Amino acid sequence: MIPGTLVDLRRAEKSDLPLLTAWSGDVEVNGEFESFGQLSLSQMEKEFEADKDECWYMVCDKAGVPVGSVAHGTCGGGCWIGYQLVPEARGRGLGTEAVTLITDYLFLHKDIVRIQAETHPANAASRRVLEKVGFTFEGLIRKSFFSRGAWRDTAMHSLLREEWGGPRLLPVGYQG
Ligand SMILES: CC(C)(COP(=O)(O)OP(=O)(O)OC[C@H]1O[C@@H](n2cnc3c(N)ncnc32)[C@H](O)[C@@H]1OP(=O)(O)O)[C@@H](O)C(=O)NCCC(=O)NCCS
Repeated sequence: MIPGTLVDLRRAEKSDLPLLTAWSGDVEVNGEFESFGQLSLSQMEKEFEADKDECWYMVCDKAGVPVGSVAHGTCGGGCWIGYQLVPEARGRGLGTEAVTLITDYLFLHKDIVRIQAETHPANAASRRVLEKVGFTFEGLIRKSFFSRGAWRDTAMHSLLREEWGGPRLLPVGYQG
């Protein structure tokens, strides 16, 4: 468990997969800008078990109810992150806290030099979250993914370890 004040992040379990599968194909949950797929539960289970590099977390409110998800994986000397909240949970600072928590956790627990996040250039909410957590916009990755009938650019953001400045929400010696 990665504890916050508004939300906690807990590792996704096999029992979360029906919910994650439903979210993965839900246009409302993925929002206006993210791509979405039509994965079956068994495909999701295969991905969950096969990909040892990728970690999935449930973003839970303080009552323990899942309201979104966060994922990370490795790329080069760093990690990538991705995140989403159900529409009802948005606009209350939960997204900023979830990204702050995973950022603290990754820099505290992994010998990485950077964390990166790609988002649609017009995704103002996601870009503002990244800006608030201290990420810098690096540039556009042109035609980097196919979604909703078109090749789309993504905006690459990163936070270097030396820019991070230590944990904001987790205690320095956090061992979770
Ligand atoms: C991106 C997302 C996680 C943001 O979570 P959230 O909890 O709503 O964000 P917060 O409440 O922490 O808000 C963070 C900032 O963004 C701003 N913001 C939120 N929604 C916004 C919008 N639609 N347009 C512009 N700014 C917005 C907030 O005002 C706040 O900035 P401020 O503190 O300067 O006022 C959420 O919108 C989401 O899940 N979207 C769909 C999936 C998605 O796009 N994921 C990102 C993939 S890269």
